[in-house]
Amino acid sequence: MIAIRGAITVDSDTPEEIKGAVKDLLCSIKEKNNLSQDDVVCIMLSSTQDIHSFYPAKAAREAGFDGCALFSSAEPDIEGSLPLCIRVMLLCDGKFKPCHVYLRGAALLRKDLTSRLVVALDGPAGSGKSTAAKALAKHFNILYLDTGAMYRACALKCLGCGTPLDDGNAVKKVIDSIDLKIEYDCGRQVTILDGKDVSEEIRKPEVSSLASRVSAFPCVREKMVEMQRKIASSMSCVVDGRDIGTNVLPDCEHKFYITASTSVRANRRFLEEKAKGYETSLESVEADIIARDKRDTEREVAPLRKAKDAVLVDTSDMTEKQVLEYLVNKIQEKI
Ligand code: DC
Repeated sequence: MIAIRGAITVDSDTPEEIKGAVKDLLCSIKEKNNLSQDDVVCIMLSSTQDIHSFYPAKAAREAGFDGCALFSSAEPDIEGSLPLCIRVMLLCDGKFKPCHVYLRGAALLRKDLTSRLVVALDGPAGSGKSTAAKALAKHFNILYLDTGAMYRACALKCLGCGTPLDDGNAVKKVIDSIDLKIEYDCGRQVTILDGKDVSEEIRKPEVSSLASRVSAFPCVREKMVEMQRKIASSMSCVVDGRDIGTNVLPDCEHKFYITASTSVRANRRFLEEKAKGYETSLESVEADIIARDKRDTEREVAPLRKAKDAVLVDTSDMTEKQVLEYLVNKIQEKI
């Protein structure tokens, strides 16, 4: 008899999510261990106490695993444990080396079985990459590193110091002494400049175009890229920016280039800025996006480009949910 372990997380406590997750997990275990239905003697499932809406054992039966004994139970509510998680143990006939399977956020439970997951998302402003990056990070329960925020903080620093952005030496002087820290509060990135949380301030439209200008300076990129590589080398994360797949993490296994038509991107940004209460017009947002695209793609150092091995995703006609599903499927094909 062989015991095979596995676990998976769900995004929310709904019958559909639970049925889908249990099916994915059991099918993956079956496939990776080359099992037939008859090999499985029993399946024991447990779920964290934030899962109430459906019995995982019933989900297993509905997924076709009905020729064996099935059982599910609730786990103790341990502080700090991974939420919305379903665990499983299969007892199987035979003698072989079991392949345990930990999917989605549960991959973090067994880092010895799963290598670190790092995903690179590049693309122009308004392409939907930061929305996708946040959703992906939440899905896999890993961190989201927004590298644009770092260039925005550099721009804010230069703005505060009254640094002329046509004077490379003046910019270098400011950036050499910048006190920038990236911290995480309940998974949310917090950008700290000179000891102050500037996460909101850096989102102002005037900072956007300054960030694009500041980010063209080699001294700025050198410093930011070093910080980004350090963060990405220490944990599983989704990193978004302009040069992640081409320059910051060229060896990253999961690379995507997210884009959309200029008018769709301008409209998205316009609605975002309006919702935040900024005085804006669609024409000025579109003009700013076109100018930023030009600067970001034409600068000499690490311009915005699709890496050769990145998957191109045009989100013009896709919903946020469709983008997430597409990215998750592509990533899962490789892990
Ligand atoms: O993604 P964002 O709009 O917050 O980025 C602001 C600017 O920072 C963007 O116009 C170009 C620059 N940037 C960059 O050059 N490289 C990155 N990896 C991220 C952003």
